[in-house]
Amino acid sequence: MEDGPPLILRQAQHEDAPCLAVLATQVFMDTYATGGVRPTMAREVLSAYSTAAFESALAAENTRLWVAEVDAHLVGFAQVRLDQAHELAPAGRPAELLRLYVQEPFTGRQVGTALLRQAELLARDAGAAVLWLTPWVHNARALAFYARRGYADHGLTWFHFEGESHPNRLLARMLAAPLHAV
Ligand SMILES: CC(C)(COP(=O)(O)OP(=O)(O)OC[C@H]1O[C@@H](n2cnc3c(N)ncnc32)[C@H](O)[C@@H]1OP(=O)(O)O)[C@@H](O)C(=O)NCCC(=O)NCCS
Repeated sequence: MEDGPPLILRQAQHEDAPCLAVLATQVFMDTYATGGVRPTMAREVLSAYSTAAFESALAAENTRLWVAEVDAHLVGFAQVRLDQAHELAPAGRPAELLRLYVQEPFTGRQVGTALLRQAELLARDAGAAVLWLTPWVHNARALAFYARRGYADHGLTWFHFEGESHPNRLLARMLAAPLHAV
C-alpha cells in the first residue's frame, strides 16, 4: 500500500460484527445491486449481512474470519468455512472462501491479495487441501482476480435465494501446491 497508515490484518473478534455487517452490506450492494434494489434482495441482505449473522459466524467452530484495517477502520475481510464440500470442487479436503470483500475506495491496493493469501494460509493450516469459491458469472473483476492467482474454473453452479437462481462459477485452487507461485 502506498504512503499512509499501514494495512493491518488480524483475526476478527466478536466486537467487529457491526462493522463487518455494514461493510459487507455496502460491498454486496455495490457488487450485486447494480440495477437498483428489489424486495428479495433487500430481505436477503438484511438477513445474511446482519450483525447477528456475523456474530454467529464468529462463534462458529468451522469459520475463520480475518479483517483488514487501515487507521483503525475496517476496509475488507475474508471469511472461510472449513470442511465445506461442493460437488464441483476437485478432490481433497475442502474449505470454502465464502466472502472476500474489499471496500471500493481500497480496491486496487493489494488488500484483496493480502486477504486471499491469509485465507489460503488459514485453510491450509486447518488441514484443507482445496480452497473453492463461487463468484457470480457477471463479476468480471473477481473472475480475473482469482484467475491471476491460480484459481481454476470447474464449472457452472447456482446460487438460490428467495426463489431466485443466479449463475456462479466454481473456482478452486489446490493448497498443497507452493502458495502464490503464479
Ligand atoms: C475482487 C476483490 C476482492 C479484489 O480486491 P482488491 O483489493 O482490489 O485486490 P488487489 O488490489 O489485490 O488486486 C486487484 C487487481 O486489479 C488491479 N486494479 C488496478 N486498478 C484497480 C482498481 N481501480 N480497482 C480494482 N482493481 C484494480 C490491480 O492491479 C490488481 O491486478 P492483478 O490481479 O493483476 O494483480 C475486490 O475487488 C472486491 O472486494 N470486490 C467486490 C466484492 C467481490 O466481488 N468479491 C469477490 C467475490 S466473493
